[in-house]
Amino acid sequence: MRSVLFLVAATAAALATRDDAKRDQIVLIENQDSTADANAVQAWWDAFPNPGSLLSSVEERITKSIRGSKLDNFLSLADSDSDDEDEGEEGNPHLPHGGHGDDHRHEDKTIYELIKDSQHASKFAKLLEEHGEIKQLLDDEEHNYTLFVPTDRALDRIHGGHHGHHGHHGHHGDDGGNDDDGDRKHRHEKPSKEFILAFLKYHIVPGLYPAHRIQTSRTLPSELHPAALDGASTRRHKQHHPQRIRAFTVPIVHLTRLNFQTRLVGPEFHAKNGILRAVDFPLIPPPSQTTVVRLLPGQFSTLALALETTGLGGELDRLERRGGGTLFAPTNRAWAALGPRLNAFLFSDPGRRYLRALLRYHVVVNETLYSDAYYRGGGEHDHDDDDGEDGDGAARVGDAGRGYLHVDLPSLLHGAPISVDIRTWKEFVSIVVNGFARVDVRDVVADDGVVQVVRQVLIPPHKHRGAHGDVGDENEGKSKREMSVEELKARLEPYLETPETTSGRDNMGDL
Ligand SMILES: *[C@@H]1O[C@H](CO)[C@@H](O)[C@H](O)[C@H]1NC(C)=O
Ligand SMILES: *[C@@H]1O[C@H](CO)[C@@H](O)[C@H](O)[C@H]1NC(C)=O
Repeated sequence: MRSVLFLVAATAAALATRDDAKRDQIVLIENQDSTADANAVQAWWDAFPNPGSLLSSVEERITKSIRGSKLDNFLSLADSDSDDEDEGEEGNPHLPHGGHGDDHRHEDKTIYELIKDSQHASKFAKLLEEHGEIKQLLDDEEHNYTLFVPTDRALDRIHGGHHGHHGHHGHHGDDGGNDDDGDRKHRHEKPSKEFILAFLKYHIVPGLYPAHRIQTSRTLPSELHPAALDGASTRRHKQHHPQRIRAFTVPIVHLTRLNFQTRLVGPEFHAKNGILRAVDFPLIPPPSQTTVVRLLPGQFSTLALALETTGLGGELDRLERRGGGTLFAPTNRAWAALGPRLNAFLFSDPGRRYLRALLRYHVVVNETLYSDAYYRGGGEHDHDDDDGEDGDGAARVGDAGRGYLHVDLPSLLHGAPISVDIRTWKEFVSIVVNGFARVDVRDVVADDGVVQVVRQVLIPPHKHRGAHGDVGDENEGKSKREMSVEELKARLEPYLETPETTSGRDNMGDL
């Protein structure tokens, strides 16, 4: 993200003095968040409240909220969402509720005009001026949009990180941005126009999203369309799936976070062509799934090692995708729960083939399952049951309050199915995989799909007994019985690739 940082610095320097005399000034209320040390915050992945303890704090909160709640029955299902939120919104004392904002109607102006006139979004306005395509979009009265506009202070927050972080976005996108191939030398170059465009588009949501709609959404579509999420082309058109934004709203108090660290601040403003909300941290287009894994070693170092030693990580990055993919990512704790013997075996030379098979069972390619949307790469497009203009080509999952969805996703392990049950009730969501493995952190967005963080390592079903015979076994597993190495081998044996197909990788990962 260094490039963004540089950009913001450059933009700030180039800012002309602004005209202060404005009628109808809209003031985007800034959140006085003193906890965010601008220098420490470099990119959205760095900006987790505390990456090292994300999941343990998640668990604490879950426990706390279950204990403290009368909604206990549902909460015990729904914990995956009591999770990553900090209740301590103390840095946010004057956050008025969006409400219906009768004081904030500016229906004689377009979104673009409102931003242009704003004192607190001058840096974003400057970016718009430099990117006519986006400016036009926000000035267009034929379509409604919801714009998350980073305040000047929000943009300053990604300013000033000058070390240690490399870009990690958009390896797939024609508009996914691709100005920074990993650890490249061009650390201080201006970001490419493509990246800035992607950055801007990621702040724009097609359609009208007033506060209550954001609060009841778990992901939001954006105007950014990474190539890896694209669906099949038909004769008439190519199906573009939007890069989604993760939304999480704390139940009851209704404070919303986007992509973990971005908060909505101030009221909503209604323009002629949509809604504008200020945010206290920019929305950074997300990296690939494997990058997500690598960037959070506190949670995923074991998985990262496994992806590396088996060569699967690199393969996933290079795969041709249609409709993205879903990676079920077991945490370090999940691996540890397999016990020392299984781990020793899986990470040994003779165990590598088994590890590879096991990992393939956590990967779904060409189907992206969010907790409230489902992209499929294939031809059969399950409808747009969307409300008109903001059709994003995604099947809806339990959009209206209570919902239940069961999906069997084909894994990369010879298509062995991963069964997913999603239950929703108001703001609560519960996702359970194979009947027993809970998704602890849902909908971690990536530019090539989504990462669903699972609490257990998924063991593929007995090949000849089918999924049903399996559930009992997993329940046993749950009751702390460790599987033996022999059992694991027997379970994976039928799925192993023949030596020829893996031989090319034998020289990899001698760590
Ligand atoms: C935009 O939203 C308004 C409601 O705020 C609606 O009246 C109008 O028809 C919408 N415009 C388009 C192009 O859908
Ligand atoms: C995913 O889609 C691509 C493009 O259609 C195709 O080449 C590939 O085989 C598909 N992968 C899987 C695992 O279905």
